[in-house]
Amino acid sequence: MRPIVAGNWKMNGLKSAIAEAKTLADHLKSHADNTHCDVMICPPATLLMVMAEVMKEHIQFGAQDCHWQQNGAHTGDVSAEMVKDAGAHAVIVGHSERREDHGETDSIVQKKAAAAHDAGLTAIICIGETSGQRDAGLTLNVVARQLEGSLPKTATAANTIIAYEPVWAIGTGKTPTTDDVAVVHESIRQRAQELMGEDGQSLRLLYGGSVKPANAEELMAVPNVNGALVGGASLKAEDFIGILAAYRAE
Ligand code: PGA
Repeated sequence: MRPIVAGNWKMNGLKSAIAEAKTLADHLKSHADNTHCDVMICPPATLLMVMAEVMKEHIQFGAQDCHWQQNGAHTGDVSAEMVKDAGAHAVIVGHSERREDHGETDSIVQKKAAAAHDAGLTAIICIGETSGQRDAGLTLNVVARQLEGSLPKTATAANTIIAYEPVWAIGTGKTPTTDDVAVVHESIRQRAQELMGEDGQSLRLLYGGSVKPANAEELMAVPNVNGALVGGASLKAEDFIGILAAYRAE
C-alpha cells in the first residue's frame, strides 16, 4: 500500500503561507519519480480554495474538520460538501484538539466521517490516548474504543485513513518508542480487520505526534505504520520535505 504523509497546519497560515505550499509543490514536481508516498496538506479553511490552485497534481489537500450535515443553520461550520466543492480530497475528523476544545465524542466523529464519505472525501480519523490513560495502562482499550465508535459503516480502505496520535506526543517533542508504536498499530490493524474485514488489512494507519525530519525514518519503518500526520513540522516546506525523505529512494 502506498503510504501518505499529511501535514496539518492547524490554526496557522495566512495568505503568505501559500509560498511554503508552492515550494513544496515545486519540490514534489521535480522529485515525483523518487517520492514513494502520497503527500497532503491540510491548511485552515480560509486557504482551501487558494490551495486548489497551488497544489495541482503532485500534492493533495484536505480540511481539518467538517460538520456532519450538508448545509443549514450552523454558524461558523463548514460542511464536507463545501470542502469537496473547494477541490479538497480529504478531511481530518476527530483530532484530539477538536475532541478537547469542542467536546467532540466518538459518535460525532463517526457522523463527520460518514458525511465526508457521502461527499466523496477521504476521512482521516484521529484516535489516541492521553498521558493519564497511558499511565493507567489503558492505551489499547482507549484506541480500540475510539476506533469502534468513530468508524462509520461507510468506511473502506479507499475512503478512510486512521491516524494514531497519542495526545501527550502532540506538539511536545515527545514520542513513544518505536516498540510502543508497533504494539498500538498492530492492535489497531487487528481491530480494523475485525470491523472491516479485508479492507482493514489495506487501510492506511498513520502515526502522528512530534514527527520531524530527525525521527521520521525510524517511525515510518515501524510495521503497520503507513505514513504520518504532521503538525508543527509541516509548516515549513524544508522540514516537511525532510520528513518525506523517509520515503525517498536514494
Ligand atoms: P505535531 O502535531 O506534529 O505538532 O505534534 C501532530 C498533529 O496534531 O497532527
